[in-house]
Amino acid sequence: MMPLAHRRILLGVTGSIAAYKAVTLLRTLRAQGADVRVVMTSAAKRFVTPLTFEVLSGHPVVDNLFSDPSGLPHIRLPEEADLILIAPCTANRLAKYALGIADDLLSTLLLTTARPVILAPAMDGAMWRQPALMHHVETLRARGVTVLDPESGPLASGQWGEGRMPGEEAILSALRARLSAQRDWQGHRFLISAGPTREAIDPVRFLSNGSTGKMGYAIAEAAVQRGGEVVLVSGPTELLPPAGVEQVSVVSAEEMYQALSLRFPWATVLIMAAAVSDFRPRKPLSDRKIKKDQWNGEPLELERTPDILAALSAQRTHQCLVGFAAETEDVLRHGHDKLMRKRLDMVVVNRVGGSESAFGSETNDVFVLTKHGATVHIPRSSKRAVADRILDELHRINAPACTSEFLPSS
Ligand SMILES: Cc1cc2nc3c(=O)[nH]c(=O)nc-3n(C[C@H](O)[C@H](O)[C@H](O)COP(=O)(O)O)c2cc1C
Repeated sequence: MMPLAHRRILLGVTGSIAAYKAVTLLRTLRAQGADVRVVMTSAAKRFVTPLTFEVLSGHPVVDNLFSDPSGLPHIRLPEEADLILIAPCTANRLAKYALGIADDLLSTLLLTTARPVILAPAMDGAMWRQPALMHHVETLRARGVTVLDPESGPLASGQWGEGRMPGEEAILSALRARLSAQRDWQGHRFLISAGPTREAIDPVRFLSNGSTGKMGYAIAEAAVQRGGEVVLVSGPTELLPPAGVEQVSVVSAEEMYQALSLRFPWATVLIMAAAVSDFRPRKPLSDRKIKKDQWNGEPLELERTPDILAALSAQRTHQCLVGFAAETEDVLRHGHDKLMRKRLDMVVVNRVGGSESAFGSETNDVFVLTKHGATVHIPRSSKRAVADRILDELHRINAPACTSEFLPSS
């Protein structure tokens, strides 16, 4: 069996002196059974002709956003691929992708897709060491893009240094890793909650918390990229839903409860990453904005909001349930209590408050507690990387609560 049989790869070739290496790479990918479509940048065509790639791939090279018969090549091409590989990848491409610039076919298609992306940089050593470029590499890695390290050796400038396009073996190994991890949640339907809720005091004031939704959105992105179907029920945030994720917007805890209850029978996995308000005003004090001088000191009476996770846990049929516990102290004990009390498969515990708070941060440092008694520490890393680790752990316990029909394939 050829290792890449039935795999569809979109190969982006950019304007590096290493563009000729993309020709042999294409031959290797084809020899391993992959179906490869090539997109070239204008600069790449100065180095190698499209004809070479057309003959070797068996498909026309697409190089223009505006001349494709489908009319939408930037959407069609990634949809028809399992993975996007840019080799060689210039400094210019790295920067454009990190900054979200969309000014030609290759840069635009990268922004439309949730498919895994691998970049194989090739450039002069001085370019690779530029602080601006290093920053872009970090940004892309934090977003889940695989940016390979260039190799060291003789460079086109005659100098010796780091900047050569990574070798075929490194590229193939990254490709295999991304392709095999990629679909491990195929067949699963994720219902994920994210963000804060707002409990109205009057039409302009509310009780809420500092959650930005980043952790829940990162899990939604990881789940969809790993083959799951995802509905994200989100309280008010500044974030855009990841590509391929259906978003349902809610404001209050009650609305979140309704939205999740409605979809719960459909789901195979529920992940409650939202920071739902535990309390709400017993009744909004007024349906008009309370003026400063109208308030004469009466206390704001609070009541408990619905305990969404406990309520859904009581209704579960086949779903696996993952809760989050945001605690300021004694985090593991509180997390363990929650796991037991709500009969969850897994609890992700993070610390909130203080300088290392999870709220609003780009990174997180969590403990995962499983119903089998394991405690796994995921050290501080980007929320997107933490999201993948959480899904790995959930995959590992293989969540017997999920019906076998939907068990993740390995
Ligand atoms: C002979 C030559 C070789 C080049 N090699 C590289 C390279 O290896 N890496 C790189 O980042 N840029 C290289 N450049 C510069 C890029 O071609 C230039 O930044 C271009 O705008 C990249 O366009 P693209 O990213 O749209 O393909 C080279 C330029 C020339 C003239």
